[in-house]
Amino acid sequence: MCGIVGYIGQQDTKDILLNGLEKLEYRGYDSAGIATLTDNGVDVFKVKGRIANLREKVGQDDTFATMGIGHTRWATHGAPSEENAHPHQSASGRFTIVHNGVIENYVQLRNEYLANVNLVSETDTEVIVQLIETLNNELNDVTAAFRKAVSLLHGSYAVALIDAEDSETIYVAKNKSPLLVGLGDNFNLVASDSMATLRVTNQYMELHDKEVVIVKRTNVELQQLDGTVVEREPFTAEIDATDTEKGTYPHFMLKEIDEQPFVMRKIIQEYQDENDEIKLDANVRKAMLGADRIYIIAAGTSYHAGLVGKEFIEKIAQIPVEVHVASEFSYNMPLLSEKPLFIFISQSGETADSRSVLVQTKELGHPALTITNVPGSTLSREADYTLHLHAGPEIAVASTKAYTAQIAVLAILAVDTAKAKSLDFSFDPLQELAIVASVMESLTDQKETFEQIAKDFFAETRNAFFIGRSSDYNVVQEAALKLKEISYIQAEGFAGGELKHGTIALIEEGTPVIALATVGNVNLSIRGNVQEVAARGANTCIISMEGLEQEGDTFVLPHVHELLTPLVSVVPMQLLSYYAALHRDCDVDKPRNLAKSVTVE
Ligand code: F6R
Repeated sequence: MCGIVGYIGQQDTKDILLNGLEKLEYRGYDSAGIATLTDNGVDVFKVKGRIANLREKVGQDDTFATMGIGHTRWATHGAPSEENAHPHQSASGRFTIVHNGVIENYVQLRNEYLANVNLVSETDTEVIVQLIETLNNELNDVTAAFRKAVSLLHGSYAVALIDAEDSETIYVAKNKSPLLVGLGDNFNLVASDSMATLRVTNQYMELHDKEVVIVKRTNVELQQLDGTVVEREPFTAEIDATDTEKGTYPHFMLKEIDEQPFVMRKIIQEYQDENDEIKLDANVRKAMLGADRIYIIAAGTSYHAGLVGKEFIEKIAQIPVEVHVASEFSYNMPLLSEKPLFIFISQSGETADSRSVLVQTKELGHPALTITNVPGSTLSREADYTLHLHAGPEIAVASTKAYTAQIAVLAILAVDTAKAKSLDFSFDPLQELAIVASVMESLTDQKETFEQIAKDFFAETRNAFFIGRSSDYNVVQEAALKLKEISYIQAEGFAGGELKHGTIALIEEGTPVIALATVGNVNLSIRGNVQEVAARGANTCIISMEGLEQEGDTFVLPHVHELLTPLVSVVPMQLLSYYAALHRDCDVDKPRNLAKSVTVE
């Protein structure tokens, strides 16, 4: 959460910063700001709200600057306001900083070092910049003051600092929060994510925790906190800049829903060898075979993908699996088995809650596999093994294609393990995923149908229920999350049979209840649950599957392998949420209070 960008070169900085921030807006959009260094000193522009507001404000200024830093904020300390917006400045105005993360000891630092400094914002960030100024007053050496200040910080940070008296340097440091240095010809950049700066370069240098970088126009020096210089080779970012554009789509979310068939095919291609067999890192296979129990750790939508993954691994590979919400597991670890394998599922690979578990389990010496869409991400770098989702950048805050990609990769992983264990099963995931891709396509071609269902069920309502049993229960939990996060309708995903144990009290005349019926052995019982709520006035909708359909079903999904039904039943759910949000005039791609990459615990 929060996005940072910085530029030092010869072109118009404001434009590069604003373009970069627009690409990072998925990381938070409570407020935004930039600071540029001109011949007359540092100009700071800040607004509450979106980058579009900032662009408008900056647009009135025609000063040319060739160096600057920018920030888009997801508020942690201090309400979203112009005062709390970054960049923040030191008391004299000499130093200006942007920061992503949370400084845990900022109160202690303020009390210890800044007793005589008047802080003007409520943020932990201002403490960093005031601290740098205070230390520089003592040391009279900006690099040393910066390193010293950074070494005093506890918590997560990615920071970029400029000095009004030095038009040649951006000071950068990171711990836990993501940050990259972009390399160019006669210019260099800083960004939370390469997506921000792909228009200008595809060459990047990775930063590790507790490293400091002195970024100049023509060179970049990486240092450890004690000043030791570190050498590191740059890498080429593989994302195409056009992957990060909406094209003709009105929203990224709709584009990403539509991309799911291509993602399935890309996964098949990436995980298939020349004999049409599964191709998977032998070390991952070994890790799976060596585990007596698997612990899946994730948050939000990725957690929901983990629930589906548990079924695959238990049913196909016959290894017991527990799925845990990362933020709970960190502080309340269950009794572990003797040979656990941890699987971290994360679209961004940056989720702080998951990372905190990874740090703990590594300390305990347990192996870890990350399944992510961002191979160079923190969770990928720090785990022993990575499986890549190949879903392309997911920009809408509500996750869609990453969820289905996670499920597809988990199916391949489960079957690969089962094969290695010589287990008897009749399921070729690569073939079945090809069928899934075609079915997904047929569903995304029927948008009008789902738009109408969304209007019928969600146009006015304040709340909604999604019910399912067995693997449909996993999907309805995701359906409810999707609906509530983008349409603000209070929604719950419930096990069909559990409703009558209390929650059915909430059913009133007209309450929407959407049921999934794609699982043979619970088909009659979920329909019984639908009858129970219909009898109490609910407005019911059944989405079933070919072979299980009954008269009156609202929509019948084409048949896919029973284990893979979540991959297709989720598509109508995503489209229903999308159209519900659209009809309620909600900001589909950037729902309130949220950010795409949650890098605070
Ligand atoms: C919901 C959503 C979130 C994320 C969660 C974990 O649509 O996107 O619930 O799934 O914040 O993020 P990752 O997968 O990046 O770890």
